[in-house]
Amino acid sequence: MFTLRAARVSARLPRPALRSFSSSRICSGRAIVYSENGDPSTVLEAVTYPNLFSPPPPSSAHIRFLLSPINPADVNVVEGVYPSKPTKTGALTTQGKGSEGQPVFVGGNEGLGQVVALGEGVKEDTLKVGDWVVVTKQQSGTWMSERHIPVADVARVPNAEKLTEAQAATLTVNPPTAYNMLHDFVDLKQGDWVIQNGANSAIAAAKGINTINLVRNRDNIGELKSSLEKLGATHVLTYDELADKSVREKIKGWTQGKDIRLGLNCVGGKETTLMARYLGKNAHLVSYGAMSKQPLSLPTSLFIFKNLTAHGFWQSEWYKTRSAADRDTLMKTLVEYIVEKKLDTPEIEVVKVGKDRTDAQASEAVTGVFKGLAEGKYGKKVLLNLE
Ligand SMILES: NC(=O)c1ccc[n+]([C@@H]2O[C@H](COP(=O)([O-])OP(=O)(O)OC[C@H]3O[C@@H](n4cnc5c(N)ncnc54)[C@H](OP(=O)(O)O)[C@@H]3O)[C@@H](O)[C@H]2O)c1
Repeated sequence: MFTLRAARVSARLPRPALRSFSSSRICSGRAIVYSENGDPSTVLEAVTYPNLFSPPPPSSAHIRFLLSPINPADVNVVEGVYPSKPTKTGALTTQGKGSEGQPVFVGGNEGLGQVVALGEGVKEDTLKVGDWVVVTKQQSGTWMSERHIPVADVARVPNAEKLTEAQAATLTVNPPTAYNMLHDFVDLKQGDWVIQNGANSAIAAAKGINTINLVRNRDNIGELKSSLEKLGATHVLTYDELADKSVREKIKGWTQGKDIRLGLNCVGGKETTLMARYLGKNAHLVSYGAMSKQPLSLPTSLFIFKNLTAHGFWQSEWYKTRSAADRDTLMKTLVEYIVEKKLDTPEIEVVKVGKDRTDAQASEAVTGVFKGLAEGKYGKKVLLNLE
């Protein structure tokens, strides 16, 4: 009944063959690193480490990354303004930026890897060589060709053979956020209404649940509206259209007077104030992002006369406070939804920054992505391929 932003089709990438590893192998690797917080388009660099790792320590896995997404929150992490912080690793250092030898942060929070070796003490029923895993510990540094990670910090991808790399690589951030927001705050029944902004994002929508989707106006708005509608959006409005008083009657007609009980907000600012005015009695407004960088202000009357409840939602906190069993159940549910095509993955662009590029070329490619993001150029989810 539910679909993640039924947007965008992901390319089916060929499944990589598993390389055989001798346990004494020392591997080299490329990582996207930074030593100081700042604008990602200036502080990030690609570095090759010739002698990276010997066999994995006990209870750890040696993971080769297949695809590592860039999410909007990664910008804030590199800037140093995101609440969940990475730690610097002294084992890896900067090179060639006039500050050689500084310990670095490895960028990246989300990522799909394949297990190539296991440390002592890892049981077969936990992980096997060849398994696809996603990293579940926040800010583990996934923009890296390979690394050791404690087994407790990854989850095996269930039914991996049924997923594309891109579907599996984007499994831990947006799909669970969308799923949990649609399930944790309001008991939505088929035919109920949800209103959401940032509706052109990789999160959202619902099958069986009616959605009013708000997007910014643009030149090709007709095209965007019909593509969102094809993907399952019930109605799409621009913020300008929402500001027009006549739209209230239109929305009443659509909902046949039924209260809209859930609002999902990743934008903030006056657009969200306006959206909140369309929520019905006893509704819940859930904020999970602030793309406009503007504070959220809500009319007191909504609390007094409509009994509005406002919440925040952070998937990272969900992972921290729930058990591994809860996490695995959620993962299984999401994979089932993807396989049943109730949940779609975003349209992707893979940026190759692996061995076939020099460090300088890879650095330029990565910083170019962040320049593009800052200019609002990307309509697609960017995934780094560091192989
Ligand atoms: N709380 C959590 O656990 C959690 C989890 C995942 C993501 N997030 C957050 O959710 C947000 C969206 O993530 P995403 O991966 O879906 O990103 P995305 O695919 O890049 O989508 C972002 C959307 O935000 C809208 N937008 C961008 N800049 C805007 C602006 N200045 N004013 C108004 N709207 C703007 C755009 O929608 P239109 O083009 O339609 O206007 C765009 O499609 C981010 O803030 C991210 O950090 C939070």
